[in-house]
Amino acid sequence: MEYRKLVESLSGDDILDKFPEIIPLQKRPNTHSSNEEVSKEDNVFSGHDQEQIRLMNENCIVLDWEDEAVGAGTKKLCHLMDNINKGLLHRAFSVFIFNEAGELLLQQRASEKITFPDLWTNTCCSHPLCVDDELGVDGTLPSKVAGVKTAASRKLEHELGIPEGEIATNGKFHFLNRIHYMAPSNEPWGEHEIDYILFYKIESGKKLTVNPNLNEVRDFCWVSADKLKQMFQDPNLKFTPWFKIICESYLFQWWNQLDDLSSVENDTEIHRML
Ligand SMILES: *[C@@H]1O[C@H](CO)[C@@H](O)[C@H](O)[C@H]1NC(C)=O
Repeated sequence: MEYRKLVESLSGDDILDKFPEIIPLQKRPNTHSSNEEVSKEDNVFSGHDQEQIRLMNENCIVLDWEDEAVGAGTKKLCHLMDNINKGLLHRAFSVFIFNEAGELLLQQRASEKITFPDLWTNTCCSHPLCVDDELGVDGTLPSKVAGVKTAASRKLEHELGIPEGEIATNGKFHFLNRIHYMAPSNEPWGEHEIDYILFYKIESGKKLTVNPNLNEVRDFCWVSADKLKQMFQDPNLKFTPWFKIICESYLFQWWNQLDDLSSVENDTEIHRML
């Protein structure tokens, strides 16, 4: 079956049947990580960084086609291409931080990352976890967006060392839309996500402290739209697949409208790039 049709055909119950490791939503542990220790002897982790292996035990939000939460599945389960090929899908977010000059904060992923190491990408890309304050428990889109913003603040501090307090006071998140895509990474890993796109604009006169966690982020820079287009021409620079998808579809149009995002934000449609 064509991949898109396969994913669309799976109900929440089908997904729980196919992947017995998933903890159904009603029984979720409401903890950031699974109780099961990730086995360091696991072949898929051979040669990888211990801290990054530990993070593969985090509980992602497994989804059906309509972005309804089905249960908690570990980051490892959700990122194995064998599972993705069977239709396993999870929730993610991509943050784009812009400064007062309209420049975008890019990061280069650390070499220690298990998926997509060393690639350049938008400010921060990660997953809300299957816990009450990141799930959006009432199931409406605004509550899911609120959950994703909570997760985004947590990860901006963890990856880039931007204090959550500064995120709360020095600017504002805008939810643009949701992009559904699938992309293989280095064997045996990949991504299959419904990705919430968040812009964050730093208020005039304010700043954010950036102090990267080198286990996550190798390098960062602030770029104008023209500079980013130049970077795409450089064969030595490699970019993540989701960042390329967003750049080729919406990014530059939205970037032009940074001063007033009201006509493009809070889009309820899920844009399928499958
Ligand atoms: C988008 O949603 C946010 C949060 O609910 C709200 O503050 C903002 O005004 C909305 N924007 C538009 C254009 O409706």
